[in-house]
Amino acid sequence: MTSIKPTMRAKSVFLKTARGRKPSSQRWLHRQLNDPYVQEARAKGFRSRAAFKLIQLNEKFHFLKPGITLIDLGAAPGGWAQVAVQKINPRQTGGKVVGIDLLEIEPLSDALLIQGDFLELDQRQKIKALINEGAQVVISDMAASTIGHAGTDHLRTIALAEMAFQFAKEVLTSGGTFISKVFQGGTDPELLKLMKRHFKTIKHMKPQASRKESPEMYVVALGFHQ
Ligand SMILES: C[S@@+](CC[C@H](N)C(=O)[O-])C[C@H]1O[C@@H](n2cnc3c(N)ncnc32)[C@H](O)[C@@H]1O
Repeated sequence: MTSIKPTMRAKSVFLKTARGRKPSSQRWLHRQLNDPYVQEARAKGFRSRAAFKLIQLNEKFHFLKPGITLIDLGAAPGGWAQVAVQKINPRQTGGKVVGIDLLEIEPLSDALLIQGDFLELDQRQKIKALINEGAQVVISDMAASTIGHAGTDHLRTIALAEMAFQFAKEVLTSGGTFISKVFQGGTDPELLKLMKRHFKTIKHMKPQASRKESPEMYVVALGFHQ
């Protein structure tokens, strides 16, 4: 489908210091304009550069297969969902891609997208209503909006990963895969202990497309059992 590394590298774009633009916005804009994954995402029609993270995770762990049901938590703007639809091919195979996000997600053909808070029970029930016989894969790229207080931000991220894991336990079929964004050197030890009871193999991976300066990485749990 898509190569895992950007194939093109445009010349570096330099910005004149714009009057009225904060230094942080200036840095963000400079990074966006010079990021090969941003350019590659645009060229390939992906909604986000995050699409390449899922492609790279899948190149290593091969969990995206035609006909499966996949749940995408924190799906906006839809890069992962696009990759999942391409691989699962729901229209031809009867597979499903179900996504949820707090933010509105622009409709994507062959994906079922919900706007809502995954932490709320009724939203999780909505997801369950859309999948009839469980899911083979649950992926979570959810990130809490940071408030700048390291301890609080850390706890909020752990809470999202924990809830994603609890939900995965309820919906995954035997042998299923759970992938979640985690921070600060890996999965929280308590959560990891719980996960080990339900998965045959647990690995961590920081895809190449994940920015070096970002503390994010992904926990990849394979071989679900009750
Ligand atoms: C890094 S973005 C996901 C990018 C996405 N994987 C893609 O490929 O386009 C993280 C998303 O998690 C969502 N999020 C955070 N907390 C959430 C929650 N409680 N329920 C649903 N979505 C949540 C945010 O709104 C944000 O859009």
